[in-house]
Amino acid sequence: MDGNGRWAQRQGKARSEGHRAGSEALRRAVEAVLERGIPYLTVYAFSSENWNRPSVEVKQLLDLFMKALTRDIRELDEHGVRVCFIGDREAFSRPLRDGMRRAERRTAANVKLRLNVAVNYGGRADLTRAARQLADKVQRGELTPEQINQEAFGRELFMSDIPEPDLLIRTGGEQRLSNFLLWQLAYTELFFSDVLWPDFNADHVTQALTDFASRERRFGGLGQVQNA
Ligand code: IPE
Ligand code: MG
Repeated sequence: MDGNGRWAQRQGKARSEGHRAGSEALRRAVEAVLERGIPYLTVYAFSSENWNRPSVEVKQLLDLFMKALTRDIRELDEHGVRVCFIGDREAFSRPLRDGMRRAERRTAANVKLRLNVAVNYGGRADLTRAARQLADKVQRGELTPEQINQEAFGRELFMSDIPEPDLLIRTGGEQRLSNFLLWQLAYTELFFSDVLWPDFNADHVTQALTDFASRERRFGGLGQVQNA
């Protein structure tokens, strides 16, 4: 969800206004995804590198996040959305951590849409955490080094219980992954949009899905080509 700051700047508003508009765009995106019956949505809300921003902006982002946890969770719950958080939440304040835990518990039984919110998330940290967990298991004698294969590794990552993403959408014109789901995106189709996140709407979701539908996914194989 990129481009909140530029959106605000273009309108002569403070960056915090951009983030507020961005949170509205997220509500719309969740609605659009629900309407289309898509079962999984993962959003990059706060990266482990976002701490490098001025402390006022970090505070504004976290306040917005707290507000969403109290205001939006009821609505998400009513719509059958299960909310999960991925990333290192230890860095957050007690109230924020409690809010996340409450949101996860409250929505745990919902099955219409699984909404994963990446907070203080980094793809490399995800991989490093997996390596550490495997090392712990080996040290405890629960696993031998030979048993470490791609499946075993993948099981230690965040979201190992759901399929890898089919489509990644990045708004705001930048064409890079910026340390998002590095392992999980190995065969994901990438869609880059110049639209700034606060302007992203249901039509843009449709555009991305239409484009996705035209892609031929071969996963390293030959796809529909005849194997003559
Ligand atoms: C993304 O918008 C929102 C978050 C990082 C939470 P930016 O704040 O990165 O917006 P730009 O890139 O400065 O326009
Ligand atoms: Mg940005």
